[in-house]
Amino acid sequence: LKPPVKILVTGAAGQIGYAVMPMIARGQMLGPDQPVIIHMLDIPSASEALGGLKMELIDSALPLLRGVIATTDVAQACKDVNFVIMLAGFPRKEGMERKELMSKNVAIYKAQASALEQHAAPNCKILVVANPANTNALILKEFAPSIQPKNITCLTRLDHNRALGHLSERLNVHVGDVKNVIIWGNHSSTQYPDANHAIVKTEFGEKSAKELVANDTWMKGEFISTVQQRGAAIIKARKQSSSLSAASAACDHMHDWILGTPKGTWVSMGVYSDGAYSIPAGIIYSFPVNCDKGEWSIVQGLKIDEFSRAKMEATANELVEEKNLAYSCLN
Ligand code: NAI
Repeated sequence: LKPPVKILVTGAAGQIGYAVMPMIARGQMLGPDQPVIIHMLDIPSASEALGGLKMELIDSALPLLRGVIATTDVAQACKDVNFVIMLAGFPRKEGMERKELMSKNVAIYKAQASALEQHAAPNCKILVVANPANTNALILKEFAPSIQPKNITCLTRLDHNRALGHLSERLNVHVGDVKNVIIWGNHSSTQYPDANHAIVKTEFGEKSAKELVANDTWMKGEFISTVQQRGAAIIKARKQSSSLSAASAACDHMHDWILGTPKGTWVSMGVYSDGAYSIPAGIIYSFPVNCDKGEWSIVQGLKIDEFSRAKMEATANELVEEKNLAYSCLN
């Protein structure tokens, strides 16, 4: 076994926190040979629930779990952490203006950026899940200048996994035989789920999903809208947002980032744009990435048709607009 690493989960007393904790402590995130010490942070009103979660973790007798800290103190929570999953956010309340909601989240991410900057371990890797995920991650980046931008990412893996699931259902194949869908842009309903480059493993070798589906109307219509609206469909059915699948996707994101993507396979991650694919630099945008030895790199050179270009730009425009809104909250 390796020496233990410290993982901070913010907003740990919430729905996703409850689902993700056993996954982390059973090695789904960093592998079965990686012991973990979990730091759980939440706000004082959730501190009792957080204590209950700690009791449950102890009662689960998890061999990889080498310690649990449950705290409402941000500095203690961030102390020497190697990995961070940020679930903490201010939820939208009825009648709340978009700017008011943004301003609450900007305040949270600004404060936690400073704490991470001061207390986290060097080279600490961060995944922002809480919405608006891309823009929260951007605020974090702006207020933690000593953390390298490459170490700050946001979750679009849930959307990526949804796209894989939906495509595999359509083709009646196992989800594990489908790869290389892409989520471009924002984790919002403007995201562009793109299956143009997706590949399916068949008994006759690897085939293009587009050719197998052979239905452009479905690919450009129902496929995209189903993935975009899946979160809303789950809220409608469960009266609560996706927690299990979000927790699972957060583990997939960290797992592939740290342990690498298989050769010839990419995944979608929200990362700091350097202008690749003519997307504006300086926003956190979801791209297809390969990961190796703990570093992601954007998959280069994919052919983008006019339809895709328009969708990629629309979601980029929304992110630029969100960035401006976030900045206006700072003043
Ligand atoms: P939740 O409301 O159950 O949990 C959020 C937790 O954050 C609560 O326990 C709350 O007390 C805590 N919190 C609020 N402010 C805090 C602060 N300043 N410091 C520490 N903790 C704080 O929400 P849930 O369902 O667990 O979702 C978490 C976030 O993830 C939400 O913002 C949700 O919209 C987002 N989400 C993102 C997805 C993605 O694919 N990127 C998918 C699903 C959810």
